[in-house]
Formats: sequence, C-alpha cells, structure tokens
Amino acid sequence: MTHPDIERVLLGEAEIQARIKELGQTISRDYAGRRLLLVGILKGSVVFLSDLLRSAALDCEVDFMCVSSYSGSGSTGQVRVLLDLRESADGKDLLIVEDIMDTGLTLHYLLENLKTRNPRSIEVCVLLDKPQCRQVPVKAKYTGFQIPNAFVVGFGLDYNERYRQLPFVGVLREEVCC
Ligand code: IMP
Repeated sequence: MTHPDIERVLLGEAEIQARIKELGQTISRDYAGRRLLLVGILKGSVVFLSDLLRSAALDCEVDFMCVSSYSGSGSTGQVRVLLDLRESADGKDLLIVEDIMDTGLTLHYLLENLKTRNPRSIEVCVLLDKPQCRQVPVKAKYTGFQIPNAFVVGFGLDYNERYRQLPFVGVLREEVCC
C-alpha cells in the first residue's frame, strides 16, 4: 500500500528491514564487549533506531539529541541543539544514529559537538545517504542505503511533520512539497 502523495516508492518495507538486520548484526559484532551509547537524533531516527535496537543482541545504552536545521524541505544551514543528551559521553563508544545524511552539515556539527565530551570513540550510522548533496565531508561507518538526490519521506522521515508513519521510503510528489 502506498500513499496518494507519494510519486514512487524507493525502498520497500521488506528491503529496509533486511538491511537493518544486517546493520544490527555488524554493529553487535563490532562493539562486542564495549560500552556502546546509541545517540538517536530526533525525530527522524526513531523508527530506524527502534528497529536497529531489536535487530540483534545490541547491548547498549540509548539516549537522544534533537537538533534543527531544516524547515519544510530546505536546510537552513544553521544547526541548533533543541535537546541534549542526558547520559554522560565520557569514556563511552558513541554511535550517532541518524535517518539521512544530505549536506552533511548536521552530522558534521554533531560530531564536533560530541567530540568535546571525551568519548572513547565516535561513529555514525545512517539509514539513508544522499552523497550527491554533500557540502562538508562526513563519513558514516554504517550506511543502510545510498539514494539519489530527491526529497524522500517515510520510515521516520517527514515533510512538515507528516509521513513519518509510512513503512517505506518514498519520493514525495513535487506538487506536494514545492
Ligand atoms: P543535512 O544536515 O543536510 O545532512 O541534513 C540532515 C537532516 O535533514 C536529516 O536529519 C533530516 O531531518 C533532514 N533531511 C535531509 N534530507 C531529507 C529528505 O530527503 N527528507 C526528509 N528529511 C531530510
């Protein structure tokens, strides 16, 4: 089942779930025996994070940050912290879990910000990557899918707070978002 505002489905539910399972297994292996703190970035990562958490025996703490750089479908380029971590990052292995990397500005800011808190290590896990849009160089250690430069919604990603509930990732019709 798709949605009338969706032009085309880019990634179906089964494909996304299978990839998240693979990511969960890889991350569990890589961090076995370590003190992992998953840092979910609100709000877009919540669906991905909750599936990732259950996808393997991830023995970890979970915390959240909320940052804002977007309004509608465009980046403002300026990142603001709206909600900060409650857990200490000191001495821990941090894994930032984000829905999508576009310009890279948000993750670049988050990495610089979190590095100042004395973590043991810090890496990035994104469900989606739009490499053609990058404005600053940021590398995600774990990536679900690389996708073309289009505005997508679903699986946690929104347009003006809508469409997060869709179980797939789809391209929004141009007349809806422009
Ligand atoms: P960046 O700073 O340009 O890399 O953007 C990262 C943030 O922009 C993500 O956390 C999303 O909230 C939002 N974003 C970027 N591209 C899309 C998209 O195609 N759909 C929905 N949100 C997006």
